[in-house]
Amino acid sequence: MKLWAGRFSKEVDKKTNDFNSSISFDSRMYKEDIEGSIAHATMLGECGIIDKSEADLICNGLKQVLDDLNNGKLAIDMNSEDIHTFIEGELTARLGDTGKRLHTARSRNDQVAVDLRLNLRKELKELKLLVKELITVICNQAEKYCDAVMPGYTHLQRAQPITFGHHIMAYSEMLLRDLGRLDDTYKRMNEMPLGCGALATTTYPIDRTITGRLLEFDRIASNSLDGVSDRDYCIELANALSLIMVHLSRFSEEIIMWCSWEFKFVELDDAFSTGSSIMPQKKNPDIAELVRGKSGRVFGDLMTLLTVMKGIPLAYNKDMQEDKEAIFDAVDTVKMCLTTFTPMIETMKVIPENMRNAAAKGFINATDCADYLVKKGLPFRDAYKATGTLVALCIKKGLTLETLPIEEYKAVCEIFDEGVYDAISLEKCVEDRAVYGGPSKKNVLSQVERVRNYIK
Ligand code: ARG
Repeated sequence: MKLWAGRFSKEVDKKTNDFNSSISFDSRMYKEDIEGSIAHATMLGECGIIDKSEADLICNGLKQVLDDLNNGKLAIDMNSEDIHTFIEGELTARLGDTGKRLHTARSRNDQVAVDLRLNLRKELKELKLLVKELITVICNQAEKYCDAVMPGYTHLQRAQPITFGHHIMAYSEMLLRDLGRLDDTYKRMNEMPLGCGALATTTYPIDRTITGRLLEFDRIASNSLDGVSDRDYCIELANALSLIMVHLSRFSEEIIMWCSWEFKFVELDDAFSTGSSIMPQKKNPDIAELVRGKSGRVFGDLMTLLTVMKGIPLAYNKDMQEDKEAIFDAVDTVKMCLTTFTPMIETMKVIPENMRNAAAKGFINATDCADYLVKKGLPFRDAYKATGTLVALCIKKGLTLETLPIEEYKAVCEIFDEGVYDAISLEKCVEDRAVYGGPSKKNVLSQVERVRNYIK
């Protein structure tokens, strides 16, 4: 029997019923639905809208339903229209008329709005912990490899020397911004819609500050039309999650490249790699590829939410039921990616020798060679040109700047002396980049410390 049976003379068509139902995806909010209902019933009792004794019966009944659901004594009836209908129906089956008083001064519109905020508030806290775990793992690897010289790239061409520690700490900065975005989202999410009713509040003398306090919201929605129909926080969360996926996807792309024989900078642990059904030699970075691929799902979820919301007149419209599958999918996907990605990075074997060998080729100290001349008084443009000539010479002779004899240097520019070899040593090139934010060991270690303190 439907909640709204009184107005209707027949049952809803079976397929329409399935089409209309949301229980398959909103049942995951059963705890929040009960939490919200307990707060609502308590408030109704305190305000004298229902008898205090009846409010107590309702609260106890709801707690029992919760216990029974938690320990598997009660199963959610998937034929119910939604989780709100199911919980209220179960309560009424247990308490009779008293159960029927719960929905006084409330609509499913403000009910679903509060449930979703409560649910996503919890998810957001879990997501923050997972992001912090990844940052911690990055810091540990960065500390361990703070002086592992590797080529830094632009255009995927070897550019200037950096360290592996410096490289991966870039991702910790992205993830710190992600934490900031989650915090911002939380602030706006933490506003209570309960009491907005269907759209225009209620004529009962309810006290929204009581429910707001019980449910630990920072504020109470100030306009009932907006309160029931605001889903900005879902979009903001999906946006924050999309950016997390952008970052994980970029990181994944690098891991995939680094695992190739062309790079071999890292090797993934067997527990986080997969083989091929035909090629016995293969060890594939499937996990990183999947994370890169799953970013598409999360961007899709964001697009779904934006599109669902963009043309809806005030206030509640059933379109808004489409919010849940999209935002839950985004939340679940990011949680799953982080829980797999983090131990993959933690157990990843780094191969500093291969990074050092790659750094030795590609003239990544050419800028330092030019800077050496500049420090001896030559204008930068002239120094740049002289070094370019030297690089061309090295390429012709199959040499590197380190192995080019001093006479060849002097023939191009007489300012050169033996000191150039020290100036272009890769280790020194890295250490001399001691500017705040740069790759020197001291910088990287202090960045690691700053980041660790920040997330503590
Ligand atoms: N299942 C609905 C949703 O997720 C709950 C609210 C129903 N309200 C209504 N007026 N039909 O949006």
